[in-house]
Amino acid sequence: MSPSFARIAPQYDALRPLSSTDRARLERTLADAALVAQDLVVEVGCGTGRLTLPLATLTPARVVGVDAEARMLEVARAKDASARVEWVRGSAYRLPIPDRAAALVLMVMVVHLLRQRVRAFAEARRVLRAGGRLSVWTFTPRHVAEFYLNPYFPSIAVIDRPRFPPAETLTAELRRAGFASVETEVRDEVRRMPITEVVDRVRGRYISTLAMLRPLEYRLGLQRLEELLAQDRSATLTQRSEWAIMTARTAAA
Ligand SMILES: C[S@@+](CC[C@H](N)C(=O)[O-])C[C@H]1O[C@@H](n2cnc3c(N)ncnc32)[C@H](O)[C@@H]1O
Repeated sequence: MSPSFARIAPQYDALRPLSSTDRARLERTLADAALVAQDLVVEVGCGTGRLTLPLATLTPARVVGVDAEARMLEVARAKDASARVEWVRGSAYRLPIPDRAAALVLMVMVVHLLRQRVRAFAEARRVLRAGGRLSVWTFTPRHVAEFYLNPYFPSIAVIDRPRFPPAETLTAELRRAGFASVETEVRDEVRRMPITEVVDRVRGRYISTLAMLRPLEYRLGLQRLEELLAQDRSATLTQRSEWAIMTARTAAA
């Protein structure tokens, strides 16, 4: 796991706010799963509960958030005044959940952090009941190749290429982990980012890749962005994101 999550935890939500598109996608994921109060939803790598808490307001099911990083979970617990969600420190490779207990498992922006994806997928399958589903949200290789910060930090694409494999690779891995079927939806999003926001995000190393750059490359890239900001505070950068939204199902009973 990247060590950067302990450091970023207090600023995580401010640096990576949930977008209306994320929320709409979450609503659709839950509508498709048609959960009832007796069901269990597990978010693996729930972080600060950025998605888990809205999710818990949208479903009657029991919700468990699992994350390896204690400081991310501290932030999540502090936001969950009514203790609606059970926050558990644990690993994607050894979930603190019994066999076949869950109807839905989510992994949102997590698989790029896993060194042993098939093992984590097999663990998700273990905790899913017959006919249950794993929802994986990640970026595509095209997203990595066209990432809006690449011109400032050329190593981002080099670091992220193996972390964000093609959907076909993930599909094969999910099948190898024992899922009966896998569907992928590719979604394109375009956003104009104010330079002020970009600089704040980069200063906060809002993506784990920024924390993996050599210090000199990080400093030079940030300096170029700060120069852009100094020249024109109203400047914007266009961020194009391409998501792979994958649904893997266990065999029906
Ligand atoms: C990029 S954050 C995403 C958090 C959340 N899913 C969201 O979208 O806001 C990735 C999270 O995965 C967690 N994580 C990384 N590797 C993990 C592992 N092996 N087991 C459990 N959690 C892990 C990190 O601690 C971090 O909180």
